[in-house]
Amino acid sequence: MSSAYASTPQTVPFSWYCDADAFEREREAVFARSWLYVGTTAQAAEPGDYFTTSVGDVPVIVTRDEAGELHALRNVCAHRGAQVVPDGCGTATFLRCHYHAWSYGLDGALRSAPRWRDEDGFRKQDFRMRPLRLERYGPFLFVNLDPDAAPLLEHLEELPALIADTGVDLDALRLTETREYRLEANWKVVVENFLECYHCPTAHPSFADAIDLNTYRIETFDRTSTQVGEPVATAGKVRYGRYSYLWPTFMINVYPGGAANISTNRIVPLDEHHTLAVYEFFFEDGATPDFIAGVTDLIHQVMVEDIGLCESVQRGMRSRTFERGHLMLKHEHAIKHFQSLVEEAVAAP
Ligand code: FES
Ligand SMILES: [Fe+2]
Repeated sequence: MSSAYASTPQTVPFSWYCDADAFEREREAVFARSWLYVGTTAQAAEPGDYFTTSVGDVPVIVTRDEAGELHALRNVCAHRGAQVVPDGCGTATFLRCHYHAWSYGLDGALRSAPRWRDEDGFRKQDFRMRPLRLERYGPFLFVNLDPDAAPLLEHLEELPALIADTGVDLDALRLTETREYRLEANWKVVVENFLECYHCPTAHPSFADAIDLNTYRIETFDRTSTQVGEPVATAGKVRYGRYSYLWPTFMINVYPGGAANISTNRIVPLDEHHTLAVYEFFFEDGATPDFIAGVTDLIHQVMVEDIGLCESVQRGMRSRTFERGHLMLKHEHAIKHFQSLVEEAVAAP
């Protein structure tokens, strides 16, 4: 990876976390070109199912058509630009725009428009909802706004092998809960908070009680990094914890314990000072209610602690007291790795 800062412990400038211009640049350089997690196959399990989401500032709808094929479409009407389907999920045989009732198939092709025969030369085949790249890793669906992006599987690199090594079978899991957290902090502050456990002994006593921080290790690859934590007590079926990051805004976590489990974190940048974090919890069918509650509560508790930390970082950065920070590279090298990816992306033509 080429980077002017790659070998220095200096962080990227704090202004990158506070400036509207920097956020705009990232919108084009990062979010319009990356594979972004949008949801799971279970959210559109049957023909006709759909759910809405967004990628960057683009409203998106994911549908499953009559033949069972999944589609991601820009949820924008070719007539006058309304969002075709208001936010939510459901089952439908076609998508009817709520403004003037142009109707599209689940594949985005325009089926009908009221009074179209009154218009000279109107051809329905000239209009459609625009399709987006949609690819799948296990039950996880990713969308890319860039039609020329390399396939998702290439982007995932070591991640599938790292998850497989934990023994968790992604296809045997079921979503038990989704929680959303809104943070007054830049998305990069939220990602960086995930990427080190240097703060765990101070800030997360419950995590430090469960995971042996002396043997905690962090490994970086090209666009992913992963953290491994051995449990303090004997874990049972899942022998160790693995907390992995995928550029730019996806995390996938496995906690040690008696049942297969995954939790995902989807980081949604709202503006330079605000971020939404969507946490999903998945467990295998045999997981006991106690185990599910234990893992879910621990993750929630850690997040509540992290929100306070991230928001204080954002206030400190906004104060313009320091131009940059300093990384403790033995323990925070995954942040260096992340910041190099940011630098590389924003410097790209
Ligand atoms: S904007 Fe969608 S039908 Fe008019
Ligand atoms: Fe934390």
